Amino acid sequence: NPTVEAEVTIEAPLKGSKKMVRNIKGRSIVPSGASTGEREAVELRDNDPKRYGGKGVTMAVNNVNKIIAKQFTGKIFATQQAMDNALITLDGTPNKAKLGANAILAVSMAYARAMATTLEMPLYRFLNTSGKFTMPVPCMNVINGGKHADNNVDFQEFMIAPHNATSFKESIRMGEETFHALKSILNKKGYSTGVGDEGGFAPNLKSNEEAVEIILEAIQKAGYTPGKDISICIDPATSEMWEDGQYVFFKSTKQKMSSEGLLKIWESWINQYPIILLEDGMAENDWEGWKLLTAQLKNKVELTGDDIFCTNPSILQRGIDAGIANSVLIKLNQIGTVTETIETIDMAYKNKYNCFISHRSGETEDTTIADLTVAINAGHLKTGSGCRGERIAKFNQLLRIEDELGKAVKFAGIKAFKNK
Ligand code: PGA
Ligand code: ZN
Repeated sequence: NPTVEAEVTIEAPLKGSKKMVRNIKGRSIVPSGASTGEREAVELRDNDPKRYGGKGVTMAVNNVNKIIAKQFTGKIFATQQAMDNALITLDGTPNKAKLGANAILAVSMAYARAMATTLEMPLYRFLNTSGKFTMPVPCMNVINGGKHADNNVDFQEFMIAPHNATSFKESIRMGEETFHALKSILNKKGYSTGVGDEGGFAPNLKSNEEAVEIILEAIQKAGYTPGKDISICIDPATSEMWEDGQYVFFKSTKQKMSSEGLLKIWESWINQYPIILLEDGMAENDWEGWKLLTAQLKNKVELTGDDIFCTNPSILQRGIDAGIANSVLIKLNQIGTVTETIETIDMAYKNKYNCFISHRSGETEDTTIADLTVAINAGHLKTGSGCRGERIAKFNQLLRIEDELGKAVKFAGIKAFKNK
């Protein structure tokens, strides 16, 4: 599906000259989700069935080239915040419905890049305020299910977190070795090794549990110890299973279950398997279920809210007040500007919530989230599996950052995860 790329040019004074200016360009591309939260900022699509099956983005592109460019050309924006506030005001709606969050975010991120270049610093430094940097544990989504794959697995994401490493570089190697081991195990068992949207394998399995069991086998085959070296993170994306107040195992057995029933599954999985993070363990419209889940498991694992919070500071505040989750998933395009994303991150940290940075299932080669993860010391991110260039692009950028920072940066390791 098409997406929006924007380019921002900043006219900055040339060093040592009062008259001469430099034209500095910044460019950025927005991603797109498949299992989106209901309260995400609006992704503007043309809905013209004759182009891209309705998924065209000519309206969003026009909003950048005509409306935003016209308003902003020749103006001075001293900070990211000033730029983003002007974008928010120009749009004028609470959910960026007029210009489109895809149009607005493309400009916001391009501005950040142009500013970083103007100030002669890498993006991760421009986005950093603490003076401290941390390399993240890559949570690699090695088995895809749910809406991200044409298989019979209900839960969307089964990730490996190679945390027992001394660097990001080593951690990625451990993850890739496990990914390859998993491929050979799937092959041997006669399962498909085709991949899903985020680059994880998408086999038809006997059960959702089998996904975890096979991953544990792969970790061992690669020479690592589950729990000690590599643990498991899960995003079942349960909002996709929620129907009339119940959870439906829509891809396998069609079984229906209450929030209490689903909670029992999570409790038994967490007792049985080395699971350290559970994202969207309950659906976005099941706040009561979320409260039960949090009360029961918040001291055992990281409970990350994705669909329920939508990277939105006002919704996160409601969640904090209601005692929901202990971590928030961060996706820039759920809220639509860099500044609001940072506002959500600051709020999370102030309330002792973790931030888990994330790609979308529809990604591009843009690597902004790699820099953001290091800049805000998130300690962990999810940006795909062991393959697919649009995911690997983020890993490569993280390798560059680690190389550049050298001894000045530490690898987060297991401590990145809540309660570990
Ligand atoms: P999406 O899913 O990018 O398809 O919305 C990712 C997630 O649920 O974390
Ligand atoms: Zn999710």
